[in-house]
Amino acid sequence: MTLLSVRGLYKTYGSGASSLPAVRGVDLELGRGETLALVGESGCGKSSTARVVVGLARPTSGSVLLNGENLHERLHDRTVRRQAQMVFQHPDQSLNPHFTVGRTIAEPARLLDDGGKGDVEARVVEALRTVGLGPEYLKRRSRELSGGQQQRVAIARALICDPELVVLDEPTASLDQSVRSRVVALLRQLQSERQVGYLFISHDLTTVRRLADRVAVMYLGRIVEIAPTEELFEDPQHPYTKALLAAAPIADPRRRNKVVPLAGETPSPARLPVGCAFQDRCPLVHDVCRTHQPLLEPSSRLHDVECFAVPTPAALAGVQSGER
Ligand SMILES: Nc1ncnc2c1ncn2[C@@H]1O[C@H](COP(=O)(O)OP(=O)(O)OP(=O)(O)O)[C@@H](O)[C@H]1O
Ligand SMILES: [Mg+2]
Repeated sequence: MTLLSVRGLYKTYGSGASSLPAVRGVDLELGRGETLALVGESGCGKSSTARVVVGLARPTSGSVLLNGENLHERLHDRTVRRQAQMVFQHPDQSLNPHFTVGRTIAEPARLLDDGGKGDVEARVVEALRTVGLGPEYLKRRSRELSGGQQQRVAIARALICDPELVVLDEPTASLDQSVRSRVVALLRQLQSERQVGYLFISHDLTTVRRLADRVAVMYLGRIVEIAPTEELFEDPQHPYTKALLAAAPIADPRRRNKVVPLAGETPSPARLPVGCAFQDRCPLVHDVCRTHQPLLEPSSRLHDVECFAVPTPAALAGVQSGER
């Protein structure tokens, strides 16, 4: 059974004239031991998706299935809830600075465990060891630690209940380059030991390429492209993905002259146009993009794209049979 299945997810903040549709119909699947990266510009809805996926926020509509169980219908059930944990971007904000490391890591175990899993203290020491910190850290307070150490503590805290899914929301963004590499190596090692699935949110495309098995690209609340990592980086299809990759420092010089840089500002999710949300920045925009919402369709095996300008097999079949 699929570890995580997100179906038709919508998340709207506020209501009436001030409502803001942050997530607009997201479908995702993630398998055991797999890493799916979620990338896209600031404000496109990555963290909103993440918070709903771990049960920290409710969906406006749609569902999140963990091992086939509807998470938001089972939030009272600790065995369902502890399957999904989250690591946040700023450990200095997500960890209570006054708590000791020992108390910080133990907290989810005390809240979510059924008591049958042995001595919490011994497990805290073990969790600390797993992230490369010795027992001498138990009595230290989070505010006395470096950013890298704090993020290790946050990872230990996420792992103590032995979750099957960890949502990592820009876990290395606040760390410098060398610490970032060590945390990424740790995440990979933990994944191979425990077969934990990662939903990995990041602006850092170099790390995404190193860590992810598949990448989903989000634009204004929708997934516009999803593909195996190497395929996405080597053969992006959506004009937004092309621009996003071109803007990154690792852009392939052979590809640079084939892409059109991203023009204009990201429109606000509060004032979305009819049709495709990318239309005003898109070099390939066509009349149909201003009247109809494109849908995510397979462009090849395991590679889905949401764009009228990308000839997917389904679109071509439609043209041939005169439907489009
Ligand atoms: N609690 C909230 N109340 C109202 N609006 C919100 C709330 N959280 C997020 N938003 C809005 O929803 C949209 C998506 O925000 P979200 O934080 O999910 O984006 P993001 O992709 O994680 O961005 P970033 O890369 O900057 O972290 C934004 O327009 C944001 O302002
Ligand atoms: Mg965010």
